[in-house]
Amino acid sequence: MQITEEQLIQEAAKAKERAYCPYSNFRVGCSLLTKNNKLYTGCNVENASYGLCVCAERVAICKAVSEGDRQISTIVVSCDTDEPTFPCGMCRQTIIEFCYPGNDIKIIAIGKDHSKPKYSKGTEVIPFAFVPKDLNVDPQLEQK
Ligand code: THU
Repeated sequence: MQITEEQLIQEAAKAKERAYCPYSNFRVGCSLLTKNNKLYTGCNVENASYGLCVCAERVAICKAVSEGDRQISTIVVSCDTDEPTFPCGMCRQTIIEFCYPGNDIKIIAIGKDHSKPKYSKGTEVIPFAFVPKDLNVDPQLEQK
C-alpha cells in the first residue's frame, strides 16, 4: 500500500515526541518518503556541547541514505509552533543535495494544528544553492 501524506504527517508528529532537546525544549519531528515507498523518521538530537545538535531532518535523511535509499520524494517537518516552520538553512542544503533533475522534494511543514500544513519544495527553499554540479559532479553518474 502506498504510504499517504496523512501517514507521513502522523509519523512526523510521533517522531517529534522522541526529540532529545533538553536545552532548547524545541521539539522537531521529521518523516520522509522514498521512491520505493519506504518511510524514515528523525527527531532533533541535542548535545551539552551545543554545536553538536542535529536537526530532525538531517537525522531522517542520514537514516534513509545510510539504508541505501536516496530517492527522497517527500519530507514532513513537525513542530509544536502555532505556524508551521520550514527546515533551517543547513537542512535545506542537505535536502537540495538529494534533489536532482526530474526529482524535486516536496516539503510539508506542520505546526500545532495538523489541519493547516504549509507546502514548499527543495528547490524553492534554497535559491542559489551550492550543488554537486558546482563541483562538476553528477551524483547519478558517479555513484550507484
Ligand atoms: N531544529 C530542527 O530539528 N530542525 C530545524 O529545521 C530547525 C531547528 C532543532 C535544532 C535544535 O535542536 C532545536 O530545533 C532548536 O533550534
